[in-house]
Amino acid sequence: MIRPFSLSDLESILQIENQSFPKSPYDWITFLNLHTLYPETFLVYASTNHGQKGQKILGYIVFSQDGHILSIAVHPHHRRKGVGRELLRRVMQTPSLTKVWAEVRRGNQGAQAFYSKMGFQVTGWVPNYYGNEDALIVQWTPGASESN
Ligand SMILES: CC(C)(COP(=O)(O)OP(=O)(O)OC[C@H]1O[C@@H](n2cnc3c(N)ncnc32)[C@H](O)[C@@H]1OP(=O)(O)O)[C@@H](O)C(=O)NCCC(=O)NCCS
Repeated sequence: MIRPFSLSDLESILQIENQSFPKSPYDWITFLNLHTLYPETFLVYASTNHGQKGQKILGYIVFSQDGHILSIAVHPHHRRKGVGRELLRRVMQTPSLTKVWAEVRRGNQGAQAFYSKMGFQVTGWVPNYYGNEDALIVQWTPGASESN
């Protein structure tokens, strides 16, 4: 189930964040700001196997109204099961978007493979975007299909 972030998800999101981005995790203030700025496009993937009261948060995505993905992460124990794909598809299926794009660390080959699989192409790069590491810009436009 994909639904908007709520404040009760914060602790789970912080755990996912710290394990996913150990070099530069967002802190709780950043997530509260993202919630304020993007109340409808800060989404979580919640497993409903744990019952209505015990939903487990497996991942999240935040994107802006013009299609910029600010962050996406999936709990390390739940990767390679299609959670990231479902979250990103939700963005790609937003009718108003004419493109979707993100920055990816040059050394983050897993995320690059993920975006490539989802039909994104590298369209540029920003030197030292992450301090001492470049960012690749990956972009998708409607009509480009996921690769096989
Ligand atoms: C990138 C990330 C969000 C992908 O989430 P995920 O739920 O594991 O991805 P999915 O299971 O939906 O993968 C879809 C496809 O993408 C590709 N893919 C995903 N992760 C991959 C990896 N580490 N290496 C190679 N290919 C990968 C595969 O083709 C996969 O399909 P398959 O498993 O059937 O082969 C997750 O690895 C993550 O949270 N990474 C740490 C945070 C991060 O780097 N975020 C992106 C910052 S720009």
